[in-house]
Amino acid sequence: MCGIFGYVGNKNAVDIILNGLTNLEYRGYDSAGIATISDGSLQIRKSIGKLNNLYKNIKKYPLSYTNIGIGHTRWATHGKPYKKNAHPHVDSKKNIAIVHNGIIENNVELRKEFAEKGYHFVSETDSEVIIPLIKENYRDGIANTLEYILPLIKGSYAIGIICRFEDSKIVCTKKDIPLIIGIGENENFISSDIYALLMYTRNLIFLEDGDIAEISKNKILIKDSNGIEKKLNIKNIKWKFNKISKTNYKHFMIKEIFEQPFSVLNTITNITYKNTKNEICIKEKIFFNQEFIKNIKNIYVVACGTSYYAGLISKFWFEHFTNIPTIVDIASEFRYREPILNNKTLVIVISQSGETADTIAALKLANDKNCKTVAICNVVGSSISIYAKHTIYTCCGIEIGVASTKAFTSQLVVLFTFALNYAYKIDTVKYSTLVTFLKELSEIPLKIKQCLKNNNFIKKLAKKFLYYKNFLFLGRYLNYPVALEGALKLKEVSYIHAEGCATGEIKHGTIALIDKNVPVIVIAIKDKVYKKTISNIEEIKARGAIVITIATECDYEIKNKSDYVIYIPKVNELLTPILTVIPTQLLAYYIANLLKYDVDKPRNLAKAVTVE
Ligand code: M6R
Repeated sequence: MCGIFGYVGNKNAVDIILNGLTNLEYRGYDSAGIATISDGSLQIRKSIGKLNNLYKNIKKYPLSYTNIGIGHTRWATHGKPYKKNAHPHVDSKKNIAIVHNGIIENNVELRKEFAEKGYHFVSETDSEVIIPLIKENYRDGIANTLEYILPLIKGSYAIGIICRFEDSKIVCTKKDIPLIIGIGENENFISSDIYALLMYTRNLIFLEDGDIAEISKNKILIKDSNGIEKKLNIKNIKWKFNKISKTNYKHFMIKEIFEQPFSVLNTITNITYKNTKNEICIKEKIFFNQEFIKNIKNIYVVACGTSYYAGLISKFWFEHFTNIPTIVDIASEFRYREPILNNKTLVIVISQSGETADTIAALKLANDKNCKTVAICNVVGSSISIYAKHTIYTCCGIEIGVASTKAFTSQLVVLFTFALNYAYKIDTVKYSTLVTFLKELSEIPLKIKQCLKNNNFIKKLAKKFLYYKNFLFLGRYLNYPVALEGALKLKEVSYIHAEGCATGEIKHGTIALIDKNVPVIVIAIKDKVYKKTISNIEEIKARGAIVITIATECDYEIKNKSDYVIYIPKVNELLTPILTVIPTQLLAYYIANLLKYDVDKPRNLAKAVTVE
């Protein structure tokens, strides 16, 4: 996690860095800090808590005008969110300042070594060891020193450094953590993501692992891990970029929930086109050629959190359409067990951010085993998109709310079309079936719009259930993963305990929890397990549960079995998860909002989990 932003140019660096950090705050918000160089001296400001506190701090204790600096917004790993642990870290003489994102795994050994040599550590962070590493090994400039010390550091990092003796440049490096250089006119930037840069420039350099860059306002010098100067690989980002703003919404989360008709449409439009017969077809180049999927014997889908739940749903699609056994795994588990992987295995990793450490590790493992790897990702140029052999983008626009909503529905769209197109390619699905499903998929954005019309009703439900301490989410078949996702969403934004369970499984234990104090949200749409679900509802009603069902429109019978019903439009049962998830997102949002929590930045979380 953590966000890094740096500036060197002719303008007021403090304003630009604060603005950059504002756009990166989703990556961590335990504390924030900034270091600049003015008249040959380092100036530092740090504040704990959200970035707003740093703004206030700087307003109270202004920094001198300067054209160079680095900033950091932190998600604590080593050491509590105290001021002393906030970045930038500086040496006692205030010669150098560093910001770091990632984890230095051998920090304990390094700290011990330097403490024995008399170095006094100020913070509890792993990052601070970079300071004595530089000081003890200093040789002819920060960049040369960095080249020498990088082999001594184990772990992952994006590092930005300024030094008062090299007061016109930022030196930076990265390994397994993104760091991007933005190239302007007489000014350059560094940033943890693209979006924080796009308002300044579209010319970007994506640093590669081991690169060391020296960045001045008019010059960029990059050397690779062997110390060889690299030709600058400048990418011009063409895609449309909307300014990051909540517009009239109170939070990004609710804005993003309401954006789904458009984000899903965008994702569909990116993948499909209409042929001359007005049939919806797949754009071949988005997916892969026949050769890529030839001889695949098994599929793994690997991801974390919400992306993992999207993966669980895709298992139904892959197995239904392609008949290929599909295993879905949590990335942090996958990487430490012994999955059976070879060149006949297709490994699909899903990640909104493209920077999730466990998912990256899983992907690297799959690459090492010679698997065919495909990433489904929302961030162009992210690590996952670079490491995967093939990437399909979700195109739902930047997602700022830490709780993932619109990324999930777009991931489902990509996974569905992926499975369908794959099946068509290997002849397990006919052309007519492909076209029928794509037509049905094209109607989904409008159906999401209809689902969103439940907004006021769900707001009222939220008011009723606000103070309950436990919730249960039940779903069967394709909607079991939606139950898991619904529970996760409620937990992460409202801090209320919620459990997702397969409806048919509760009688094996979870039913013991049920009484009038546990509202149960049951996904009970008209699919092939509908009747079974109704019986399960009877069982929980008989035990006093308050039942809120998510049901198919015009299912009036279900009213007798539920205390409250939220209707969604009719759709082919295979596509229901894209709709049933919408009410669960709204419920989680409204409960958290009524409880007055910071919905977009829930405690202890961050948007991109770049550490294990
Ligand atoms: O960026 P990714 O999709 O790889 O992130 C995976 C999870 O960290 C993420 O989905 C997390 O669970 C969200 N906070 C859920 O809302």
